[in-house]
Amino acid sequence: MSSQERSVQKFSGISPAEFFYRNRQMAGFGNPTQAVYSTVRELIENGLDACEDAGKAPEIRIKIVDEDSDNVTVTVKDNGTGLPYDEVAQAFGRILYGSKYERRQKRGTFGLGVTMAILYGQITTDSPVLICTRFGEGLGRAYRLLIDIEKNAPILLSETTKRQHSLGTSVSICFKGDLKRAQERVLEYLRLTTVGTPNARIIFNIDDEIQGCIGPWTSEAPKTSIPVKPHPRAVDVELIQRLLNECESTTIRDFLVTSFQQLGTRTASKLLAFMNIDPKTPLDVLTRQDISRLCQGMRHYDGFCSPDSKCLSPIGEASFTAGVRSTFNTSFLSYGRQGVFEWQGNPVILEGVLAVGDSFSVSDTPTLYRMANRVPLLYDASEDIFTKVVRQTSWRRYGFSKPQPAALFLNVSSTRIPYRATGKQSLAHIMEIERETSLLLKVLGRFLSKKVSSGGAAARNVKKRREYSELIGIVAKYGSELADFDSPPPTEHIVQRLFEVSEDE
Ligand SMILES: Nc1ncnc2c1ncn2[C@@H]1O[C@H](COP(=O)(O)OP(=O)(O)O)[C@@H](O)[C@H]1O
Ligand SMILES: [Mg+2]
Repeated sequence: MSSQERSVQKFSGISPAEFFYRNRQMAGFGNPTQAVYSTVRELIENGLDACEDAGKAPEIRIKIVDEDSDNVTVTVKDNGTGLPYDEVAQAFGRILYGSKYERRQKRGTFGLGVTMAILYGQITTDSPVLICTRFGEGLGRAYRLLIDIEKNAPILLSETTKRQHSLGTSVSICFKGDLKRAQERVLEYLRLTTVGTPNARIIFNIDDEIQGCIGPWTSEAPKTSIPVKPHPRAVDVELIQRLLNECESTTIRDFLVTSFQQLGTRTASKLLAFMNIDPKTPLDVLTRQDISRLCQGMRHYDGFCSPDSKCLSPIGEASFTAGVRSTFNTSFLSYGRQGVFEWQGNPVILEGVLAVGDSFSVSDTPTLYRMANRVPLLYDASEDIFTKVVRQTSWRRYGFSKPQPAALFLNVSSTRIPYRATGKQSLAHIMEIERETSLLLKVLGRFLSKKVSSGGAAARNVKKRREYSELIGIVAKYGSELADFDSPPPTEHIVQRLFEVSEDE
């Protein structure tokens, strides 16, 4: 092609909806089996987030119907907050729009979950999504809508009043899916969801054939996560520019104090002295270069406290172990936690449960179950950082000198989960997370090796006791014959005393 021909090429842009329409496999909608799983997952995530916002124990009802010609309809109903009526069309009809962009732990983070499922339903079956919601006092409302892919905007087909007894939302999406193939994964996902959120009840009905209820395993509510300001080490030029646009302060020191966490007046003054910037510099004289210098300085200054963790909501020892114990047959459980530690200015907590029991397959490493912000991750395990660390751990040192029926449950909580792709199935290789996971596995492994060795010692003691009992019995028999006794004296109390002493030791 000549340079002249190249110069007449037509240029154009595409909307975010168009981008995900073209690249749906990136968001977990690559084939009909994965589409069933991803739709269920996105709807349940939103339901659980809304219940936690409402401060209620989640009660999630899910119905999946295998319609004709491979069409599947998934309906999920929650008892959460409901949605403000003037936001429904945008929240469900516009990709990358949502209420979860603030800095606190949520399951959804991108404004891309349910909207992606709706988009997939629309392009495979041409059906609109049906949303029924009640928010606050009064009746509820029902909406049918499609997404205008070119404009990334909702096309509202109908909006009607609908009586709904309690607050909450129900969303129904019809799409091309392979329910038969996805069914096992979906059931596993539901079970594991109650391990990560053990105060939830999930009531399910799959094609009227498989029905049931899972949970709740505890009445204890998870800790409420509270939104926080950005940490100074999490900045980039764009973020500083945005915060400057929003801020009402006049000097640079006031701007730092009001816009960031862990930055009081004293720390702000020290930081500015470190960068040779006058604390009284007015904001309106700052150039792009000044902002870039400020950004570099903030990233490299080492006088900040670690990020605030009130924005996180880990599962917690009592709830995590209750979830695992109620879902699997276990004979031994140990819980461990690492953090709060930091990843690029974001707080992170890692939790793990190592369990032994006959629910798990016998192997020389424990079976790994991964979770992020309490959401189970069931695909792409081989690329995940947790998988890598589990493989690198020498389990033989930790009670696996012979294969064990064991499982390891890991959950990472953060305001920013480093997913490898928008499908949110595996965690990227972040150095800090790798290091802390490895430490956590050592702690959990030590618990297990103690248990295994004390189990081994107990078994050895039983054997020894039987042998001593036999030997002392023989000595007593011959002794009593030599002494001309009618029968040998009782010896069991001697064995008993011998072993009491050795146990005390
Ligand atoms: N069941 C629900 N209850 C309340 N709000 C919801 C529900 N489902 C979706 N939403 C709203 O719609 C927005 C978009 O949802 P979604 O596309 O899944 O993105 P995300 O969950 O990542 O924010 C959410 O941020 C939330 O505000
Ligand atoms: Mg979502």
